[in-house]
Amino acid sequence: MELLRIENLKVAVDGKLILKGINLTVNRGETHAIMGPNGSGKSTLAAVLMGHPAYEVLDGDVLFEGKSILGLSPDERAKLGIFLAFQYPYEIEGVRVSQMMWRAFRALGGEVSPVEFRKLLRENYSALGMGEFIDREINLGFSGGEKKRSEVAQLLTLKPKLAILDEIDSGLDIDAVRIVGEALNEARRRNPDMAILLITHYQRILNHVRPDRVHVMMDGRIVMSGGYELSLKLEKEGYGNLSKIIV
Ligand SMILES: Nc1ncnc2c1ncn2[C@@H]1O[C@H](COP(=O)(O)OP(=O)(O)OP(=O)(O)O)[C@@H](O)[C@H]1O
Ligand SMILES: [Mg+2]
Repeated sequence: MELLRIENLKVAVDGKLILKGINLTVNRGETHAIMGPNGSGKSTLAAVLMGHPAYEVLDGDVLFEGKSILGLSPDERAKLGIFLAFQYPYEIEGVRVSQMMWRAFRALGGEVSPVEFRKLLRENYSALGMGEFIDREINLGFSGGEKKRSEVAQLLTLKPKLAILDEIDSGLDIDAVRIVGEALNEARRRNPDMAILLITHYQRILNHVRPDRVHVMMDGRIVMSGGYELSLKLEKEGYGNLSKIIV
């Protein structure tokens, strides 16, 4: 069943056209990987899906559960069940992880007691090897890999319908890629309806989190789509040799 449908999406920033007509449909429970060279528009797509105000939608539509979400604020989109893990997570001084997560959990309609919530949050952070981080200020002084793992622990806690993960694997050591991959698989097991849009440069994470579809984005367009095997071919041939790849 269809969860997300992006139709002919054209987006500009500061008057510059970045997304030049994106079409993509993601069904419930599916994992789609988006790969592509630097500057091709992957993070722009993630930001637009979440409702970042800096991006101007010139044409097209984004439907979530059959309804356009383009008029909704990032908060309203989060309440619908859309979650974005940023390529560069923000640091927030003076706010602890546990405080922010409690607010987010409540805003999304979560109904456990504060004590139970703390236990749940700690369990999820512990699954990423970060149990004690829940009392630290958000991302402050976290290493690059810790910031990424923290985003996955948040996803486990908030249980979105659609998780958009922008380079969740960048800067992770080999063990951390496996840990993050296992946590994402656990999230999928707990919630088989959750869809994932996984933006990545590296084939390795896809060995852990097998995608149903792989899309190649270049210069603001999806130029090729295929199954998991497309990621293996890309790893071998690079983006410069797309014409050699037959899907
Ligand atoms: N505020 C802005 N003003 C001008 N250009 C911008 C702005 N934001 C993004 N761009 C341009 O849009 C293009 C796409 O950027 P985006 O961050 O979406 O790429 P990406 O595919 O995520 O790249 P990477 O793999 O390096 O993360 C780039 O050329 C970038 O310079
Ligand atoms: Mg990016």
